[in-house]
Amino acid sequence: MTNCAFEHAVHSASKGISRPGVVDVRNHLVIRKVGFSVRTPFDTAYNVGPCDTFACVNATSPHKRIAVIPGDGIGKEVIPQAVKVIQATGAAVDLTEFDWGADRFLRDGTTVPPDGFAMLARDFDAILVGAFGDPRVKTNIHAKEILLGMRFKMDLYANVRPVRLFDAALCPLKGVGPKDIDFVVLRENTEGVYTDAGGVFKQGTADEIATQEDINTRKGVERIVRYAFEYCVQHTKLDGSARSKVLMCDKSNAMTHAGGLWQRVFKEVSAEYPKIAAQHMYVDALCMQMVRDPRQFDVIVTNNMFGDIITDLAAGLQGGLGMAASGNIHPGRTSMFEPVHGSAPPIAGKNQANPCGAILTAAMMLQHLAFEKEADKIESAVLEAVRQKKTTQDVGGSLGTREAAEWVATFIGS
Ligand code: NAD
Ligand code: IPM
Ligand code: MN
Repeated sequence: MTNCAFEHAVHSASKGISRPGVVDVRNHLVIRKVGFSVRTPFDTAYNVGPCDTFACVNATSPHKRIAVIPGDGIGKEVIPQAVKVIQATGAAVDLTEFDWGADRFLRDGTTVPPDGFAMLARDFDAILVGAFGDPRVKTNIHAKEILLGMRFKMDLYANVRPVRLFDAALCPLKGVGPKDIDFVVLRENTEGVYTDAGGVFKQGTADEIATQEDINTRKGVERIVRYAFEYCVQHTKLDGSARSKVLMCDKSNAMTHAGGLWQRVFKEVSAEYPKIAAQHMYVDALCMQMVRDPRQFDVIVTNNMFGDIITDLAAGLQGGLGMAASGNIHPGRTSMFEPVHGSAPPIAGKNQANPCGAILTAAMMLQHLAFEKEADKIESAVLEAVRQKKTTQDVGGSLGTREAAEWVATFIGS
C-alpha cells in the first residue's frame, strides 16, 4: 500500500461516513454518487474548513481523483455545473471540494492551508478550479497565493489555452466560421513579470521608484518552446488535419534582453523540428492580425504576460470569456484546469454566468486524464447547445447558468 493509500484508508476507517449521495446546499442540487462515496474528513486531514459538497477521494478506488476548488464569484456557480456535466458522462472520477477562496480567507485568514500544494500533488490526479477575485479583498492576496501559487509552486509551466469557434454566430468578425478559428496559445506559466520580483523605493514621496522584473530563464523558455513544438506534432485540428506551424510571439524589438533569449531558444528548438514551420510575430502586430485574419494561426507560444493578454483577445473571437477553457500543465504531474475568465463580480450570484468555459475546461481535464470518450461527449453537447441557442445570454441564448448546464448534461445523458 502506498503512503497515500495508507493515509486515506486510515482516514476513511476512522472518520468516514458512508453516504450514497451528497447535497450541494448552495446550488440546491443533488450531486449523484460518483465512484466511492466515503467522506474523507478534509478539515482534519488537510487542515481546511469543512466542505461536503462532492463525493470524495478514496485511494483504493481505480477512479481518477479530482480536487475541485470553485473559488470566488461566478467560479462558485459555474464549477458545480461543470461537475454536474462530468457526472453526466459517467467518467470514473472521485471529486473532493476545497473551500479555498475569498470567503475562507475573510473568515480565518487562510489562503492555502499548510502543505496544501503538496497535498494536491500527492493525493489528486487533477485539479478543477473556478476563479479567484473578490472586491472585499482589495490586495487580491488570496488569488495570488492560491492561483499563482498552484501555477508556480506546482511548476505547471504550460498554460494551454485552445481557441475554437463553435458557431459563426458567436464571432464578432464577419465571414468567419468554425473552420477559420482553431488555434492554441501556449503561455509560459511560471516566469516573466508574474514572478513579482521587484520592489518599491521611497514609497509615498515624489521620488518614488517601482520596479517589476521580467524573469526569463533558459530552462523556462526552452521547456515551453519545446512543449509548443511537441504539441504541434501530437495534436490535430478539429477537422482532423495536421497542425503545422508554431509562431513565437514576443516584443524583442523593445525588450531586447528577454526577447533575445526567446529568439535564440526558438531558433535552436525549431531546428529540431524541420517539418514544422517556425514563425515569429511581435505581440502588437499579432493583436492586429488576430482581429484581421485569425485563420493564419495554428500554435502560438509566448511569455506569461503576453499570453494572458492575447488569450482574452482570442476569447473575444470565440464568443467571449464565457467560452474559453484552459489547462495549467506539467506533463506527468498533477495539473490544474480552469476557465480563462475571472470571478466577474458584477454578474456573480445572478445565475447569469456562461458555464461553457468551465464545462469545456472539464472536458480538457477529462481528456488529459485519458477519458477521451467522455471529453468528446461534452464537446459535442456544448456544440449542440450553442447551435440550438440553449445557452446563456452572452452567447445568444436566454437560459440561466444552471439551466444551460442542465441542457448540456441532459443532452449527454440522452
Ligand atoms: P472577468 O473575466 O471576471 O470579467 C470580464 C468580463 O467578462 C466581465 O464583463 C464579465 O461579466 C464577463 N464574463 C467573464 N466570465 C463570464 C462568463 N462565464 N459568462 C458571462 N460573462 C463573463 O475579468 P475582470 O472583470 O477583469 O476580473 C474580475 C475579477 O476576477 C478580478 O478580481 C480579477 O483579478 C479576477 N480574475 C481571476 C481569474 C482567475 O482566477 N483565473 C482570471 C481573470 C480575472
Ligand atoms: C488569468 C488571469 C490571471 C492571470 C490573474 C487572475 C492573476 O487573468 O488566468 O488569465 O493574469 O494569469
Ligand atoms: Mn487573464
